[in-house]
Amino acid sequence: MDLELAGKVALVTGASRGIGAAIARRLAGEGMAVALAARDAGRLGDLVSEVEAAGGRAFAYPVDLSDPAAPAAFAAAAVGRFGRVDLVVNNAGATARGDFLALSEQQWADGFGLKFFAAVRLCRAAWPHLVAARGGVVNIAGVGGQTGSAEFTIGGAVNAAMLNLTKCLADRGVADGVRVNAINPGAIATDRLTVRVDKLAAALDVPAAEAARRLAAQMNVARFGEADEVAAAVAFLASGRAGYVQGAVLNVDGGLTRTL
Ligand SMILES: NC(=O)c1ccc[n+]([C@@H]2O[C@H](COP(=O)([O-])OP(=O)(O)OC[C@H]3O[C@@H](n4cnc5c(N)ncnc54)[C@H](OP(=O)(O)O)[C@@H]3O)[C@@H](O)[C@H]2O)c1
Repeated sequence: MDLELAGKVALVTGASRGIGAAIARRLAGEGMAVALAARDAGRLGDLVSEVEAAGGRAFAYPVDLSDPAAPAAFAAAAVGRFGRVDLVVNNAGATARGDFLALSEQQWADGFGLKFFAAVRLCRAAWPHLVAARGGVVNIAGVGGQTGSAEFTIGGAVNAAMLNLTKCLADRGVADGVRVNAINPGAIATDRLTVRVDKLAAALDVPAAEAARRLAAQMNVARFGEADEVAAAVAFLASGRAGYVQGAVLNVDGGLTRTL
């Protein structure tokens, strides 16, 4: 299916690895020019080379997105390079897990400071360009935003805020011609999940493969998801094929979420 994304421009945060890198690869594969932000300049540079070698257009913008000035600077740099913005993918995130009583003020501030506030700031900066292009936003939230768990208070609260932001901007987007949607990944096999599996393996004193099997069984999912399975959903939501999808929350979680 041709998603008719060729020639359009996407901004992707957290694009140096994991889900964000998969999104960048997938959108570039659909013919979009991709502007990539994260801190790791080396990984971003490698991804730009990979996209360009495949005949695509990509631009690396190494930056710490928790700096309040960074999202607007990223948007301006991307517009300077590609001249327009059709899609913003807010994906960068790093929220600490753990016992609620052990999580610090700083960890709470960092969790919101990156994932939530970078998304707010990037949407604000890119919005006039999205209006001009009749473009869209896809926010990568997480199933923890819908289903609370004791070990995931920061991530749960941040993702819930992302989902509400999605609804608010979708409401504004009706008048402005901008579609805003969210994806809730479940357990996707990226570095974040590897860290979690390794901690569980150490706690249970079992090999990592056994810890992964037990974690998937505990979640009652057949397997962990692949980053490109989230990326494929982003490409669909970005395309005109999803032209009447506005303010939607799409769970890409292998059935993990059993509530409405
Ligand atoms: N994996 C899952 O199972 C899962 C489930 C639900 C939701 N999610 C959400 O999906 C998103 C991506 O997750 P992932 O698993 O792909 O995570 P990941 O592998 O840890 O990658 C996180 C990305 O965010 C970037 N990043 C982190 N801190 C940053 C900062 N201060 N400034 C700029 N970029 C920063 C990282 O790049 P640098 O280190 O180079 O800066 C990296 O590109 C996150 O928002 C996460 O909450 C993931």
